[in-house]
Amino acid sequence: MKQIQFFDTTLRDGEQTIGVNFSIEDKIRIAKQLVNWGVDVIEAGFPVASKNDFKSVRKIGQEITGCKVTGLARCVKKDIDAVSAALGDTPNGQIHVFIATSPIHREAKLHMTKDEVIETIENCVSYAHQKFEHVEFSPEDATRTEWNFLVKAIRTAIFAGADVINIPDTTGYTNPEEISELFDYLKDNIPEFDEVVFSIHCHNDLGMATANALAAIQHGATRVEGTINGIGERAGNTALEEIATTLMVRKDFYQVETNICLTKTFEIAKMVSQKSKMQIPNNKPITGTNAFSHESGIHQDGFLKNHATYEILTPQSVGVAHSSIPLGKLSGSHAVIVKLEEMGYKIDKETTKDIFIKFKAIADNQPIVSDDDLVQIMNEIQGVA
Ligand code: KIV
Ligand code: ZN
Repeated sequence: MKQIQFFDTTLRDGEQTIGVNFSIEDKIRIAKQLVNWGVDVIEAGFPVASKNDFKSVRKIGQEITGCKVTGLARCVKKDIDAVSAALGDTPNGQIHVFIATSPIHREAKLHMTKDEVIETIENCVSYAHQKFEHVEFSPEDATRTEWNFLVKAIRTAIFAGADVINIPDTTGYTNPEEISELFDYLKDNIPEFDEVVFSIHCHNDLGMATANALAAIQHGATRVEGTINGIGERAGNTALEEIATTLMVRKDFYQVETNICLTKTFEIAKMVSQKSKMQIPNNKPITGTNAFSHESGIHQDGFLKNHATYEILTPQSVGVAHSSIPLGKLSGSHAVIVKLEEMGYKIDKETTKDIFIKFKAIADNQPIVSDDDLVQIMNEIQGVA
């Protein structure tokens, strides 16, 4: 079975989230937890960006074992030198260099012609390769780049020594059909496609980062990049916990393996949420508090008969303790009686109807019926003062 590498950029692209600034200690803790979770590569930061970024990349490179550690560099000598100073002498150090290739970036940002971009790629990738055995190259804004020029840029990087080619959907512009076609085109037009690792790096501006990354995996990517909880620039990056869980739940479809230890997913998500001071939204797939909660009577009844009616994975498989069936106005009598029995009450058929009438009267006026509310209902039913 094909192996998919996980490249985590929580500490680099994730830290580009407005308001997020991890301390060096937090970065080390997160990096250690990422290794426990099973990622293959950690992008530890952008060493040229600040003194602290340099220090944390260097410390992670020195302390973290069990996965590769990379640092980001623009196609600029001083950036490459900074990554080299941070990671060049570490056992697992690598480099990730990028330059934009799309017309809007070439013209408005870089003020470069196509030929100048190609020349820069050649020079910077070969310079990076003098310093590192493994070089990842990203044509930034790849999905808005002319496809024939993208091929030229990628082949230039491969000939200059890159062994990983990352395809960034920098602005979250693409969709799964287009990313599939793009990967098919790259496969058909890059004779060296199978000699290097093709990686996918998506942003979530239109809410398609997970779907786009999965489409790329189906069409030849063997590395996926993203962040924990999907944090990152603007609407964020691909949430790696969603990819890991999908590849496990739908192994029948994707037919790939990963090194991720799925039962540690909730632990890493909670840690990143706490250190980034960003709450996990209640309805976030996999790790949100509602992800394994069942609200309506029909769902609760089905779930109580067989959990698989409404759960496609167990909460325990991603490290969540248990499912929940909060009681509210849409709940049915089955869930109410099961809850009361769990609380130690013995309920006979005759009183079920009366209990449920009282339950509905309370539930209609508040979002959730608490255990205390249930005790009060039972006191009234049993005539306890
Ligand atoms: O989104 C992007 O294009 C990036 C690159 C630096 C890979 O983060
Ligand atoms: Zn990015």
